[in-house]
Amino acid sequence: MKFSRRKFSKLGLMAGVGLGIPLGRTAGPVGRLVESATVTSPRVEQFEAPLPVPPVLEPSRTDETTDYYEITQQEGTVEILPGYETTVWGYNGLFPGPTIEARSGREVVIEHRNELPVPVSTHLHGGVTPPESDGFPTDLILPPDLSVEDLPGHISGTVAGISHGSKEYTYPNQQRAATLWYHDHRMDFTGPQVYKGLAGFYIIRDGIEDELPLPDGEKEVPLMIADRTFTDDGEMYYPSVDPSLMGEHGVLASTSFGPHTGVFGDTILVNGAPWPRMEVSNTKYRFRILNASNARTYELAIEPSPSEGNSFVQVGSDGGLLSEPIRHDKLLISPAERFDVVVDFSQYSVGSEVTLVNRRGTGRVSDVMRFEVVREEKEESEIPAQLAPELEFPSPEDAEVTRRFFFLAGVLGGMSTINGNGYDPERIDANPRLGSTEIWEFDADPAHPIHMHLVHFKVISRDGGPPGPYDAGWKDTVFLDGGNVRVVAKFTPYRGKYVFHCHNLEHEDMMMMANFEVV
Ligand code: C2O
Ligand code: CU
Ligand code: CU
Repeated sequence: MKFSRRKFSKLGLMAGVGLGIPLGRTAGPVGRLVESATVTSPRVEQFEAPLPVPPVLEPSRTDETTDYYEITQQEGTVEILPGYETTVWGYNGLFPGPTIEARSGREVVIEHRNELPVPVSTHLHGGVTPPESDGFPTDLILPPDLSVEDLPGHISGTVAGISHGSKEYTYPNQQRAATLWYHDHRMDFTGPQVYKGLAGFYIIRDGIEDELPLPDGEKEVPLMIADRTFTDDGEMYYPSVDPSLMGEHGVLASTSFGPHTGVFGDTILVNGAPWPRMEVSNTKYRFRILNASNARTYELAIEPSPSEGNSFVQVGSDGGLLSEPIRHDKLLISPAERFDVVVDFSQYSVGSEVTLVNRRGTGRVSDVMRFEVVREEKEESEIPAQLAPELEFPSPEDAEVTRRFFFLAGVLGGMSTINGNGYDPERIDANPRLGSTEIWEFDADPAHPIHMHLVHFKVISRDGGPPGPYDAGWKDTVFLDGGNVRVVAKFTPYRGKYVFHCHNLEHEDMMMMANFEVV
C-alpha cells in the first residue's frame, strides 16, 4: 500500500506530511520520532470491581445447519474505571464483545455492520475459515458513508474485496472444541482498533468435551486479560501518530523502540474490569485464559501457591483439549495465546484471598486479579487422566518442505520484518500445496508471538531441543523469547491466501506480517 499525497491533502493531513518524513509504505520509518508525553492512568483500587463475564450473544435466527448472528461494530460508553466514562469501539458497543457459543460441525454466519468512523476487517482467531471469511487485512468493511477514495493510500491484494457498510462472515466450525476469539484485523491499524475494544470470545464446543466431568456452568469462566492506559478523563490512551486512524499509521516513537517494543498499558483489565475480584467456593474452576493484550506477555502464577504446588492444571491449548492434563506452577502466555486451565480452590481454606499475579510485571502490573474463597461447596467435577483421544498431529517425516522465517523487530520506529520484508498484501511468501505437510521454522529477534491463520500446528522443537512446557497440544500462536522453534502443520482444508504474522500488534502494524497461499 502506498500513501498518496493527494489523498492526504484531501483529508487535511498535510501537516503530518509537511514535516518531510518519508511516508513510503515499503521503506522508511513507520513510527514518527515524536516523544509521547508519559500518560499515567487515574489510580484505581485493586481487587474491588467484581469480575464481569461477557454476555453470550443470541442468534437472530437458526435453521437446520446454521446459527445466524448480527453484530454492529459501534462506539459505546462503558464504566471501566469507577466514576469515569470510557468510549470504546466494541462489537455491539461492548468491550469485551459478546461471546459467540458455537457447536463443532454446525455453521455460524455473522453479519458484521460497521458503524465506526474507520474501516474494519474481522478475523476469527483460531478459526479454520475459508479465505473470503478470514478477515484478510485489506478485506475492509467500510463505514457506509466512506468510499475507498477516502482511505489513506490505496488498498490492494484483497481476497474477498471491499464491503460497504456490512459483511457476512461464514464459519463452518469443522474443527474441535476450542477457545477462539474474534478481533479486528485492519491492515496497519489492528493495534489501535483492538486496543479500543474490538475483541471478543468465540467458543466452540463438541460432544467429546461435553462428556468430560470438568467444571462447567458458573465454574467455567473465560478470562480475557488486556492492559490499557487511560487519560485523566478516563479515555483509553493509545499513542497513535494519527489518532483519527484515517491518516498515517504507526505509534509515536517512544513506544516503538527499545527491547520491549509495542504498546503497554499500566492498568490490567480482565474481561474489561481493572484488577477484578471473583468470589469462588472451595472447589475446582475452569478458566479459559486469553491474552488479548497488544504487546504484553504475562507469566501467570497464583499467590499464595497451593501447598502441593501445581497451581494450574492445563486441560487445553489454542486448538482445544490436550489428550492428558499438564500441571504447571506458572504459565507463560504471550499475546493471542489461550490456556485452558483448572484451578483447584479446595487447596485453600474459606476466607483465603488468592491472587493471580504476573511475575513478568513490576509494580501494579504484577497483579492481575483476585479470587476470594468465600464458601464451602461439594466438589462435583474432576479432571480425568485422559481428556481427549490421542491427538493426531501430522508427522514431521511427512513434511515435503521446510521453510524458514526470521522475525526481526524494527528499531527507532522502523519497520519490523519477516525475512527482511515488510508486509505487502500482494506478495506471497509461501505456497503450500493443499493437503501437504510442511515444517516451518521461526527465528525471533528479540521476542515475538508468531501466529498462523487457517492451520493449527504442533511445536516439534525449541532451540534445537524438545518443545517447551507451554508448547503442548494444537497451537496457532507460539511465543519465541528469542531463539527458534520448528512447527509442523498440514495445510488443509481450503485453498487461498492467508496471513501469518507476529501477534505483538504494534509489530504487526509495523509490517511484521506475510502471506501464504494454499494452492
Ligand atoms: Cu489474532 Cu491474524 O490474528
Ligand atoms: Cu488468526
Ligand atoms: Cu513481534
